[in-house]
Amino acid sequence: MSKIHAAITAVNGYVPDYILTNQELETMVDTNDEWITSRTGIKERRILKGEGLGVTDLAVPAVEGLLKKRGIGAEEIDLIIFCTITPDMPFPASANILADKIGAKNAWGYDLVAACSGFIFGLATGAQFIESGKHKKVLVVAGDKMSSIINYEDRVTCIIFGDGCGAALLEPNVDGYGIIDSILKSDGSGKVFLHQKAGGSMRPASHATVDANEHAVFQEGQAVFKFAVTNMADVAAEIMEKNDLTAEDVDWLVPHQANKRIIDATANRMGVGSDKVMINIEKYGNTTNGTIPLLLWEWENKLKKGDNLVLAAFGGGFTWGSIYLKWAY
Ligand code: UT7
Repeated sequence: MSKIHAAITAVNGYVPDYILTNQELETMVDTNDEWITSRTGIKERRILKGEGLGVTDLAVPAVEGLLKKRGIGAEEIDLIIFCTITPDMPFPASANILADKIGAKNAWGYDLVAACSGFIFGLATGAQFIESGKHKKVLVVAGDKMSSIINYEDRVTCIIFGDGCGAALLEPNVDGYGIIDSILKSDGSGKVFLHQKAGGSMRPASHATVDANEHAVFQEGQAVFKFAVTNMADVAAEIMEKNDLTAEDVDWLVPHQANKRIIDATANRMGVGSDKVMINIEKYGNTTNGTIPLLLWEWENKLKKGDNLVLAAFGGGFTWGSIYLKWAY
């Protein structure tokens, strides 16, 4: 029997309506459009407004649109992997909350915490259930309501992040399409440079933690930048080498959208021209878990069956990794 690969058979995305522009940020913190654009490539990002809304409110429209495109019902989903660092609540898992909201009555699920590398970790993990024959339909959902953990008085972090969510369906493929290889890495010592200080068991929420803004993202930008540039480029080059891929063989680089300069460095290292690099950072900023599925969603119409895609990400944890896949439709 031919080997079973896990293939993406549908993608979809959702971003909220509210657009937070660089111009509006200029009225909030000491920054300017020129600085943000030249240092990051970001022009605007989306924000989920409204009381009581969480990341599953971004996921529901993304997943419902995906199911419609694929022409299947939610009850056909076997497993939901929800990659997020901004779950609706610490427990239960947002995967469970989402399953209930969309009527995925036959699915089990769990949340996966790998920050910006979440979608890559989620795809690689979900693929195991397909390749083993255990499941037929695995939904990998990845997104964040980053605005819920951003201090809008901290100009170093508030200019970068936005809200958004994407989803991909994995199904078995025996014709050689789908996920061919993955390289996944993590290094917990990177914690000092990028983390959320309070709200976990080590430092539960208190008046003091709220007053000190310790529930917001803390990032030492320059240090993270150095690790990101090196590791994201290295892991993308490594997966090419491991699979004997030349730059010509690669049809699309699908990079995490943290900073345009990191994306450019990765493309340069791979020898891939800018016409093959998916970029939408200017519109959405860094949606953390959401960036890569949002790219696939926006580029879906340009993709052809058999295209070689290299996905690459680096993020908090530190976590990083790459996936090589052959587009299946
Ligand atoms: O996705 C998860 C992983 N995260 C990343 O990959 C992010 C990696 N890091 C970065 O993308 C960049 O480090 C940042 C975009 C966060 C910052 O860019 P940078 O070029 O590293 O700037 P910097 O932190 O070295 O700051 C340069 C200067 C400083 O002023 P002085 O000390 O040179 O006078 C900052 O105070 O820019 C100043 N600055 C700002 N100026 C205007 C910092 N933030 C701002 C701002 N507007 N928003």
